[in-house]
Amino acid sequence: MSDAGRGALTHAELASSGTPHRAGDPCVMVIFGASGDLTKRKLLPALSALAHDGLLPDRFAVVGFARREKSDEAFRDEMKAAVQQFSRHRPPKPEVWDRLARGLHYVAASFEEPGGYDRLRDLLGELDRKNGAGRNRVYYLATPPNAYAPIVTRLGAAGLVSEAWDGQPDGGAAPDGRGWSRIIIEKPFGRDLATARALNADIHRVFRERQVYRIDHYLGKETVQNILTFRFGNSIFEPLWNRRYVDHVQLLVGEDLGVEGRGGFYDTAGAMRDMVQNHMLQLLSLVAMEPPATFEADAVRDEKVKVLRAIRPIPASRAGDLTIRAQYVSGVLRGKKIPAYADELGVGEETPTETYAALHLEIDNWRWAGVPFYLRTGKALPKRVTEVTIQYRRPPLLLFQQAEHAAHADRDVIEPNRLTLRIQPDEGISLRVGLKPPGPRISLVPARLGFVYRDTFGVEPAEAYERLLLDCMLGDSTLFIRRDEVETAWALVTPVLEAWAAASRNGLAYYPAGSWGPKEADRFIQGDGREWANP
Ligand code: BG6
Repeated sequence: MSDAGRGALTHAELASSGTPHRAGDPCVMVIFGASGDLTKRKLLPALSALAHDGLLPDRFAVVGFARREKSDEAFRDEMKAAVQQFSRHRPPKPEVWDRLARGLHYVAASFEEPGGYDRLRDLLGELDRKNGAGRNRVYYLATPPNAYAPIVTRLGAAGLVSEAWDGQPDGGAAPDGRGWSRIIIEKPFGRDLATARALNADIHRVFRERQVYRIDHYLGKETVQNILTFRFGNSIFEPLWNRRYVDHVQLLVGEDLGVEGRGGFYDTAGAMRDMVQNHMLQLLSLVAMEPPATFEADAVRDEKVKVLRAIRPIPASRAGDLTIRAQYVSGVLRGKKIPAYADELGVGEETPTETYAALHLEIDNWRWAGVPFYLRTGKALPKRVTEVTIQYRRPPLLLFQQAEHAAHADRDVIEPNRLTLRIQPDEGISLRVGLKPPGPRISLVPARLGFVYRDTFGVEPAEAYERLLLDCMLGDSTLFIRRDEVETAWALVTPVLEAWAAASRNGLAYYPAGSWGPKEADRFIQGDGREWANP
């Protein structure tokens, strides 16, 4: 797997590499919550990057929908500034930007007031006549979550959702010219199992499941998709991907920032809701799933949900043994002193909210029985890093010089093989192996075989939202979360959240900002005779 000595792929190799080259189908994208951060930081920059790459449909428009009064012109100016700051292709080429900007419109209305939806309908009709988007719609909910159900209900009541027709992956037109309607819903999708179910029920009163695209931006990351190609596009790893060879698996999502002004939101969420229930369980399902029969949306999601269902439930009574939760106190992060979480703006006094969570999960199926999966995520850790580490079993015999040391020191000194999938940053894959160092004696030192995304492909991976917006415009929901997936994930974490809420600050550990988490988390894994794989 080493690509040492090999240059970046040629354009021809990249062109034949299966990157989607088809532009999205003609449509109007209506963004609810268009004044918010997500629209500025992610959505418009992604649309602009798609436009640069020739992947936006020719007949395309965006309608921003939000409370704040502003003209189309003001909306365009704001979005231009956002794209200049955040898009992968920045500054945008003037001809590309001008074209996108001509299709940007704005409706100022509250999410509850039916009059706003009447105005939206009039504008959509006008855009259809002008640019012929074929009455196809992508509705994007980029609002606070309490607005999701009211918006869906009002869209239905205003007749803005084509009932059954959700389009076809080949982009065919609706048989009777009605166009298709799809809805993208941001996280958080509920705050526990009951609220997620209620939200699904509200959505299903208006949209069919095939029209619903629940987004988890981790699935749009190139390196996350690479988990499946790496596993199922090579023949040498999959035979070793099971309990016979794997000792345990670690998933780490570390962030080197505190809550950065999002204290008000974060204090109602915490690490479990913000990262584990969605991004981390999605990563786990890709790492642990069985090969799907095809790469079609439902075949892939059937396998993912099977893994989630096979995770052994953690009843509230075991939450204390199988999980750790902690909160950061002040500390030094990248040379800068940062305040304790509890002192952040918007955070409640004596807050019990966890900024760090670690879990020990077991998957009760044939492949993984007895192999622990350790999940760990935290804010204010020393490094921004997302990694999956597959740690293999130790060799059965110690034949080398280390054996003597081991006998004296009464411990193992050989580092077991470790496969690391580096999701971000420094995207790549590495395999730790034992090799003989130079010299007359036969002994073993750890060395790394590695693939570095940037060196091999010669480009940085695209932003997750680019891929996900394009897939939705193409009617491909493989990288979106299905109803049963989201509910199964909530079913797993809800008892733990309830146990934590009942205990409040009892059992909450603390760690200084800039450290790898609380001592309790080290003891947690050491108790199983293992160590965290800190990058
Ligand atoms: C979001 C969380 O879903 O993911 C944030 O709400 C977190 O708290 C972010 O910072 C991390 O995303 P990424 O792509 O930067 O790893």
